[in-house]
Amino acid sequence: MAVETAAFTAVVALLITAAASQTPPTAYSNHTVGGPAGWFFNATKNISATNYSSWAASQTFNLGDFLIFRTNSNQTVIQTYNLTTFQSCSFDDASDNDTVQYNGGDTDFNKPLIIQVPLTIKGSNYFFSDANDGVQCQEGMAFEIQVNTGLGLPPSLNQPPPPPYATPPDSNSAQMPPLMIPQTKDNGSSKTIANSRRELFFIAVMVLLLLC
Ligand SMILES: *[C@@H]1O[C@H](CO)[C@@H](O)[C@H](O)[C@H]1NC(C)=O
Ligand SMILES: *[C@@H]1O[C@H](CO)[C@@H](O)[C@H](O)[C@H]1NC(C)=O
Ligand SMILES: *[C@@H]1O[C@H](CO)[C@@H](O)[C@H](O)[C@H]1NC(C)=O
Ligand SMILES: *[C@@H]1O[C@H](CO)[C@@H](O)[C@H](O)[C@H]1NC(C)=O
Ligand SMILES: *[C@@H]1O[C@H](CO)[C@@H](O)[C@H](O)[C@H]1NC(C)=O
Ligand SMILES: *[C@@H]1O[C@H](CO)[C@@H](O)[C@H](O)[C@H]1NC(C)=O
Ligand SMILES: *[C@@H]1O[C@H](CO)[C@@H](O)[C@H](O)[C@H]1NC(C)=O
Ligand SMILES: *[C@@H]1O[C@H](CO)[C@@H](O)[C@H](O)[C@H]1NC(C)=O
Repeated sequence: MAVETAAFTAVVALLITAAASQTPPTAYSNHTVGGPAGWFFNATKNISATNYSSWAASQTFNLGDFLIFRTNSNQTVIQTYNLTTFQSCSFDDASDNDTVQYNGGDTDFNKPLIIQVPLTIKGSNYFFSDANDGVQCQEGMAFEIQVNTGLGLPPSLNQPPPPPYATPPDSNSAQMPPLMIPQTKDNGSSKTIANSRRELFFIAVMVLLLLC
């Protein structure tokens, strides 16, 4: 029994080590929108600072990546999953569940902004600036990206609903003597598994004795 349990412990330790040393094939990326040009509208030339569609076509986007908008308060950042909203260059009629405004309504011009947008939904994501009553959008401040699965959403962006409330452990329980089956070879995280194996073994013996 002791030898068997020790061997079992060693196998569990090996499995844990193997799982911990697995590294993902690629990493999450941050994409600076427009590259060095940033996210700007040139009011003098009445055109976007760069061709954002060309920029988007040069990138590969995956779930969990971020778009980094280096901009100022002259532009806005609107994200939508709704093609109609995108094509209208306005989110006045948009639904809350498919369109997000990351900034806007600022009455000060030229205020520097860095806006970080996580990509959390696969497929078509649309971005535009609705400033100047849609003229910025009509004149190039709009682009579409396709978001691929990649590594999938990281836990930080994939938040499940909060777990049900659990009563905190009784503070008295810390002072009670630990309830343990005496044994010497088990240690660390394998203890619970080894103990339950031992329990199963005893149950099996009891059943056998009863049957005899
Ligand atoms: C990407 O941007 C996010 C949000 O600012 C940040 O938490 C993350 O560390 C950045 N990742 C890389 C690889 O720069
Ligand atoms: C807009 O374009 C003009 C002409 O090319 C240039 O002189 C000016 O610096 C640009 N403005 C901005 C804010 O990029
Ligand atoms: C910029 O272009 C729009 C058309 O998209 C036009 O309505 C507007 O008058 C132009 N503005 C300037 C300052 O040229
Ligand atoms: C931007 O680039 C795309 C190709 O990536 C092209 O179809 C489009 O006409 C360009 N827009 C402007 C305003 O030059
Ligand atoms: C921001 O908008 C204001 C007001 O239209 C203009 O004077 C200023 O040049 C703009 N700044 C940039 C960087 O485009
Ligand atoms: C897109 O938004 C419009 C309102 O702007 C709405 O009428 C339409 O149903 C939406 N489309 C989808 C596919 O949700
Ligand atoms: C928004 O809600 C409508 C119905 O309320 C639904 O048809 C649509 O798929 C939702 N869109 C998103 C992006 O969840
Ligand atoms: C359990 O591991 C600790 C170090 O993590 C060690 O000090 C202790 O002697 C080990 N106990 C047994 C029974 O192997």
